[in-house]
Amino acid sequence: MKRAKRRIPRFAFDYLEGGVGSEICIERNRRALDAIEIIPRYGLDTSVPRLTTTLFGRDYAMPLGISPMGLSGLVWPNADDALAAAAEKTRIPFLLSMVSNSDIETIARIAPSVVWLQLYAVPEDDYRVTLDMVDRAVRAGVHALVLTLDTPMRQKRLRDLGNGLTVPFRPTWRTVYDVARAPAWLISTLRHRQPRFANFVPYLKGRRRPADVAGYVDRHMAGAVTWELVERIRQKWQGPLVLKGIQHPDDAEHAVKLCIDGIIISNHGGRQFDAAPAAIDLVQALKRRVAGRAAIMLDGSVHSGLDVLKALVCGADFTFAGRPFLAATAALGTKGPAHLAKMFEAELRGVMAQAGVTDIADCPSLSCRMNRTEDFSRLKPSRSPANTGV
Ligand SMILES: Cc1cc2nc3c(=O)[nH]c(=O)nc-3n(C[C@H](O)[C@H](O)[C@H](O)COP(=O)(O)O)c2cc1C
Repeated sequence: MKRAKRRIPRFAFDYLEGGVGSEICIERNRRALDAIEIIPRYGLDTSVPRLTTTLFGRDYAMPLGISPMGLSGLVWPNADDALAAAAEKTRIPFLLSMVSNSDIETIARIAPSVVWLQLYAVPEDDYRVTLDMVDRAVRAGVHALVLTLDTPMRQKRLRDLGNGLTVPFRPTWRTVYDVARAPAWLISTLRHRQPRFANFVPYLKGRRRPADVAGYVDRHMAGAVTWELVERIRQKWQGPLVLKGIQHPDDAEHAVKLCIDGIIISNHGGRQFDAAPAAIDLVQALKRRVAGRAAIMLDGSVHSGLDVLKALVCGADFTFAGRPFLAATAALGTKGPAHLAKMFEAELRGVMAQAGVTDIADCPSLSCRMNRTEDFSRLKPSRSPANTGV
């Protein structure tokens, strides 16, 4: 993150690092992970820990993937391609955002065995664009679809507003100064040109300038992924279907009733709702409710091999990281994300040996303490989705 900060303009770094409101939720994710203690077991030969993890019928090098990140090209030009290539090389899942800067067809060619696609709701014309992207995902050979539920409305990210990072973009003299101080980023951006939301280009007859595409996305990509839309996509998509942003056990239960294959417990890395609990604090409650019926995955400040281990010991089946991978790309260019994946792998191997487990599958057998005085065991019964029309 430090090196990325030096190499890219401030508005790009703020977009990467920042969150909603006062950014308390980002801190909450971090503090909750830091508070976890694991009692190690000794006297075992743990010299060759096995990290391979099977998820939805595919083997991955470790239980970690790359979270979807839209507009990644702002942080480093062509970052989607670099992230996808690194994921393919290191055999970890790459979740392409719907609002990526390379389209799904290109990414599926770069990362054929590890690519997943994340979708938002585009309500215009009876969800024509969202549903068409499901068809494109089938044709491109995408392995899993991820629907993000935690963005029912766009929220204020104060750093972005302050930096003029709006649609349309409002550069100031400060922007010019920031860009001038980031020559490597500027040269790379000039070479690759301004990023645009590539997946949307086919739906804009003729008007393909980045500003036109951004205007379309700004006008039409608004509103919740409703349970009704989840059902429609479930009927259309035969492959693994995952809901991202699930936090309440009743929502997890409802997802399972709709034959969802997995959930990613997530608060969008603190970018949507500052009052959201730390994702890690919800694992046990959600696990109690849907274990064995859906894969339980998690993201939000999973920024080291030790964080991955903690998540698994607390009950997650798989984890994802976002910012670190994009920061690695900004810091080191195309070599960055594979370098980071290898760091995660080496760290995970090290902490598994130290904690006394030789196989990823054995992590839940370790004893841990979450250090929380209050958990969410006194959850209020929720209104049923059927009654509220949610
Ligand atoms: C720059 C950036 C863009 C993001 N864009 C998306 C997106 O398009 N879709 C999505 O579901 N989540 C998006 N997220 C949230 C991530 O998928 C993920 O939930 C979060 O970053 C995890 O926290 P971490 O960055 O601390 O690992 C974005 C996050 C960042 C940092």
